Amino acid sequence: MAIPKLLLSLVALGNVLAHDNGLAITPQMGWNTWNHFGCDISDATILNAAKALIANNLTQFGYNYVLMDDCWHAPARDSATGAPVADPQKFPNGIKALSDEIHNLGLKFGIYSSAGVYTCGGKFGSLGFEEIDAKTYAEWGVDYLKYDNCFNEGLAGTPKISHDRYANMSRALNATGRPILYSMCNWGEDGPWNFAPTIANSWRISGDIVDMFDRFDERCPCTSVLDCKLAGFHCAMARIIDFAAPVGQKAHSGAWNDLDMLEVGNGGMTFDEYVTHFSFWSILKSPLILGNDVTNMSNETLTIITNKALIDINQDAGVGPANRMWKRTIPDGGDLQLWAGSLSNNRFVIALLNTSPKQQTTDVDFTDVFVDQGKAYQQQPYQLSDLWQKDSTGNWGKSVGTVQGSIRNVRIGAHQTKVWLAVPAPSSKRALGEL
Ligand SMILES: *[C@@H]1O[C@H](CO)[C@@H](O)[C@H](O)[C@H]1NC(C)=O
Ligand SMILES: *[C@@H]1O[C@H](CO)[C@@H](O)[C@H](O)[C@H]1NC(C)=O
Ligand SMILES: *[C@@H]1O[C@H](CO)[C@@H](O)[C@H](O)[C@H]1NC(C)=O
Ligand SMILES: *[C@@H]1O[C@H](CO)[C@@H](O)[C@H](O)[C@H]1NC(C)=O
Ligand SMILES: *[C@@H]1O[C@H](CO)[C@@H](O)[C@H](O)[C@H]1NC(C)=O
Repeated sequence: MAIPKLLLSLVALGNVLAHDNGLAITPQMGWNTWNHFGCDISDATILNAAKALIANNLTQFGYNYVLMDDCWHAPARDSATGAPVADPQKFPNGIKALSDEIHNLGLKFGIYSSAGVYTCGGKFGSLGFEEIDAKTYAEWGVDYLKYDNCFNEGLAGTPKISHDRYANMSRALNATGRPILYSMCNWGEDGPWNFAPTIANSWRISGDIVDMFDRFDERCPCTSVLDCKLAGFHCAMARIIDFAAPVGQKAHSGAWNDLDMLEVGNGGMTFDEYVTHFSFWSILKSPLILGNDVTNMSNETLTIITNKALIDINQDAGVGPANRMWKRTIPDGGDLQLWAGSLSNNRFVIALLNTSPKQQTTDVDFTDVFVDQGKAYQQQPYQLSDLWQKDSTGNWGKSVGTVQGSIRNVRIGAHQTKVWLAVPAPSSKRALGEL
């Protein structure tokens, strides 16, 4: 079937409407100081992490951005020029020297500020200083800006007000001539998935993550991000998965939903819970920004964050986030959720999540998985591999056989996620992409 002309022009338009700096073609990957170190940072914290990313081969998996979060600042800007100044105790050689060292290691360097008069840590913010800040960052060799939302003087409440405040920094970054990945962190306020794709490379969808599985906390009060009046913080990981479900449709190349930085390795969740965390951040195409101490990791942590099969899905160019196909409440508490997504080359990802406190058993019906692809796809056989098991050569993705119609009697433990790759079996007559 020929693709209708209107659809073709919409596809072309979609490309034009991305933030046009050539970055985050696939979700950005890296490491950030905040989740583990908070304000307790210095040039040593950042350089040691950069070296550890290399020593642990994490750079080979794509973790290339080294990101300095809040509290790098001196008490005040330069009184003569208004330019930002770094804390001379924490950064005795200045930020340019640090970024040079990061670049010499073959990595990229990022900085943090807030679209407000102060940062969240109470340092000077960038509201009204967009041009001089962007210019200084570019001079320092900055490749990435995480731009927060604290102390914004009430300049929020409608998409236009939020857009205009964040667009000012977007323009200032562009004017430097240096490609700087622009990571908006306005906590989902005013629906950034609707206004951010033309001005930023990614946008946070919710309040800050907390290193817990699903605990409800009044400080993260919303039940949906679509009508959220107070994003708050202390948002448990499984709640962010819920928040992400309806907005996946808004993400595309160069413009991603940011589910917040990873907590894997910070100690607040079990192994299975961190597997769930990493699985969903991968298949929902969130930026994968490590937030643990990469100089001191357990084998379990390293195992999770180097699951190449899941990273490949996250970095699969030209495909969007997986979608939730159903969510079933469990009488024991929590729910079972089925997610599915299309990958390149006629491959599919299927994920089953159990947020309940007890093991559950369920069938995964292909009428649900392939609802968008139609009957032929629902009926044909698939070769399945389990992406949390390794094959005989040590690669992630162990074959679990050929399956038709449904995956029957799947037993899934409390807080576990199972992720499968499904590829039409060779015996299937269907050609690539054919319906
Ligand atoms: C600035 O924006 C223009 C037009 O959108 C784009 O072509 C260019 O690549 C951008 N430059 C940078 C450095 O982001
Ligand atoms: C990193 O990769 C090299 C080979 O590329 C290997 O020899 C080494 O053991 C790996 N190190 C770690 C920590 O995985
Ligand atoms: C954006 O910047 C312009 C100056 O370039 C300023 O007049 C305007 O108030 C700024 N808007 C916001 C929302 O900060
Ligand atoms: C390394 O991690 C272990 C286990 O979490 C912890 O007990 C130890 O204090 C850490 N060491 C450093 C130097 O942070
Ligand atoms: C990781 O596992 C290896 C053996 O598989 C062991 O020698 C090493 O001490 C472990 N490292 C940590 C940090 O647990």
